[in-house]
Amino acid sequence: MDELKSLEQTGLAELRACADEPALKAWHTRFFGDKGSMKAALAGIGKVPKDQRAAYGQEANRVKVALEAGYAQALATAKRQALEASLAADPLDVTLPGRPAPRGRLHPATQVMRQVTRAFADMGFQVFRSREVETDQLNFELLNMPEHHPARDMWDTFFTDTPGVVLRTHTSPGQIHVMRRFAPHPVRAILPGMCYRNEAISTRSEIQFLQVEGLVVGEGATMADLKGTLTAFARRLFGPDRQVRIRSSYFPFTEPSIEVDIDWPADDPNRDRLTKGTGWLEILGAGMVHPAVLRNGGYDPDRVTGFAFGMGPQRMLMLQRAIDDIRLFWGNDLRFLRQF
Ligand code: FA5
Repeated sequence: MDELKSLEQTGLAELRACADEPALKAWHTRFFGDKGSMKAALAGIGKVPKDQRAAYGQEANRVKVALEAGYAQALATAKRQALEASLAADPLDVTLPGRPAPRGRLHPATQVMRQVTRAFADMGFQVFRSREVETDQLNFELLNMPEHHPARDMWDTFFTDTPGVVLRTHTSPGQIHVMRRFAPHPVRAILPGMCYRNEAISTRSEIQFLQVEGLVVGEGATMADLKGTLTAFARRLFGPDRQVRIRSSYFPFTEPSIEVDIDWPADDPNRDRLTKGTGWLEILGAGMVHPAVLRNGGYDPDRVTGFAFGMGPQRMLMLQRAIDDIRLFWGNDLRFLRQF
């Protein structure tokens, strides 16, 4: 018992004498290492007469706990002192202003796509994605354009190496996908996405551009519903003062068909050049879904009718902000992009 007492006293005294963390670690090995004195004292219990073992064991344990506690406290103090010393020796100036992180923003094409999506979502349309690589069958045939049909000339196409597989020239094949998924139930959906055409690039036309397709199928959908939907949409995007012109047109997959133009901002000096002197820029084609297309989608054209439209959101942003060249969209010129 006396040895235990003196072990405790020496242990604590030596702890106090340790100046830093390495000294403390060495102390720990001396007392608690495999050959350490505390270990030896605990092992010594075997040599203690039986009737004193319990008391010895208790005392040994108390000393062990006391030394461990002393060590933990001394180690914490040494660490804190080391940190304070290092801060005093090598001060850190936390008042130096940080480097500002450059703030990104959404691309104007994404911004206008969101405007369009929001407008239609408010009218109860669901949004679907459809693929950019399509079969000839979906891009043309099921939309009422058999091979060699002259209407295919309206969409000069990029073909892939796989026969019958093309980059879609419009989002209209999405109509077939949506109809086949939902027939015979009613549908009210838009399909935004990228399209590709082998076009002569100009201020208003690119070989890669965005479209948003719209499709409504159900009992009693009429041309008046189509015109009302498109007019409400145009008011929402262009405000009450811009003019909306609806012209009759032709598409093989709609009958009757229309096209919609918006008047170019009157005060813009580029107005004549961009509208070929007419003052109007076309934003979309539309019409009542052709009975053959409804059938291809799995509907009975004697029971339901439908209307569809395909619009060019980039042209809409051009009209909103008097952008004089559609090539600016994919040109990656920050002077252009930073204005949005
Ligand atoms: C079509 O693509 C038809 N699929 C639209 C449609 C859908 C009609 C459903 C009836 C029913 P069009 O080729 O006119 O039609 O293109 C529609 C719109 O896409 C155009 O008004 C224009 O806004 C945009 N667009 C077409 N070609 C380009 C191009 N090369 N660059 C930028 N925008 C284009």
